[in-house]
Amino acid sequence: MSLTNKNILLGIGGGIAAYKSAELVRRLKDCGANVRVVMSQGAQAFITPLTLQALSGHPVATDLLDPAAEAAMGHIELARWADLVIIAPATANLLARVNAGMADELITTSCLATDAPVVVCPAMNQQMYQNQATQDNLQQLQDKGITVWGPGIGSQACGETGPGRLLEADEITQRANDFFSPKLLEKINILLTAGPTREAIDPVRYISNHSSGKMGFALAKAAYDLGANVTLVSGPVNLNTPQGITRIDVDSAAQMQAAVMEQINEQDIFIGCAAVADYRVTEVADNKIKKTTDADTMTLKLIKNPDILASVSQLKNKPFTVGFAAETQDVIHYAKEKLIRKNLDMIAANDVSQAELGFNADNNALCVLWHEGQHMLPATDKYTLAKQLLSLIAQRRRNGST
Ligand code: C5P
Repeated sequence: MSLTNKNILLGIGGGIAAYKSAELVRRLKDCGANVRVVMSQGAQAFITPLTLQALSGHPVATDLLDPAAEAAMGHIELARWADLVIIAPATANLLARVNAGMADELITTSCLATDAPVVVCPAMNQQMYQNQATQDNLQQLQDKGITVWGPGIGSQACGETGPGRLLEADEITQRANDFFSPKLLEKINILLTAGPTREAIDPVRYISNHSSGKMGFALAKAAYDLGANVTLVSGPVNLNTPQGITRIDVDSAAQMQAAVMEQINEQDIFIGCAAVADYRVTEVADNKIKKTTDADTMTLKLIKNPDILASVSQLKNKPFTVGFAAETQDVIHYAKEKLIRKNLDMIAANDVSQAELGFNADNNALCVLWHEGQHMLPATDKYTLAKQLLSLIAQRRRNGST
């Protein structure tokens, strides 16, 4: 059990789901964790500190300025003691306050004072959860390195249905256990490309495509969460850099290739997720090209760009090399052909003709092919899909298919 003797500081916020926290303490302790509980004033309206004290086997901290509590284990000591801080339930109010760095009560103060990882498990009315302010807080918390587990979707105590249910105690315990388990890609170096490239025509115009970079960024985040050292070479996209990742920004295919080749020698895995422009303009004009009055057409001469993926797979000591294939027809046929022609270890193919999947969408589905087999990853959000793809990559890499 990965939770044995791990110190978990559980912060309970003031929501109806606070009653589930009693069960959570039991489950965590069953798995061998030491649990100490901090409760907000609101939480005490839903469940008593005495219940949590009996279940955790320790006094419950409720007040930042309690001399008796400070004499036992002060709030700074409590924050230092923790190997992991879990806030469950994390109400909309608590999320906003943790995000703002408030330090006027014990839960938010503990988040500021700890160097342990912090996890929030949101629980609130579905409308409150979907409100832009809550979504912004969740995004900003993640940008600061705080992990979000849940919420679940379903019927709510308020009678509504939707996202905002606290994850069940078993699910949170499982995730806490996974958190302390050795990670699938521990210390593996992964290099990824993501997004489109921009090929200049003149100083103000360029050729590009609709790639949003979401799949590549989801892969980078998932790889980091699985323990990898991640370097992400990104074309121009409108996305925040996930926590813990080294990002190199480029514009053109030539710049992307140069950045990849500079990094490639230290890499164990290379994933080419970028939608690299196949061609660039032969000669980029030094000045803005002027409209002419005498002709209705103009011709641009294009030249093929280097194939970054193929140049990686030709290297003598190539990393485990994975490509993407975005197709609108005969997906598997074309992907298989690309796997062989580009000498890849694996290819992930998606059908970009489906508007709700693939390019620019939040969800995707992939058919993953390697030389000896294939596996379908059905439609889901890009982060979940990224984890599933990385798990396949780790398996194939272990089985020595390079
Ligand atoms: O040949 P096609 O462009 O369909 O191949 C797609 C795969 O090849 C993707 O993994 C993409 O990142 C990679 N690629 C590349 N350099 C190019 C073109 C594609 O790395 N110039």
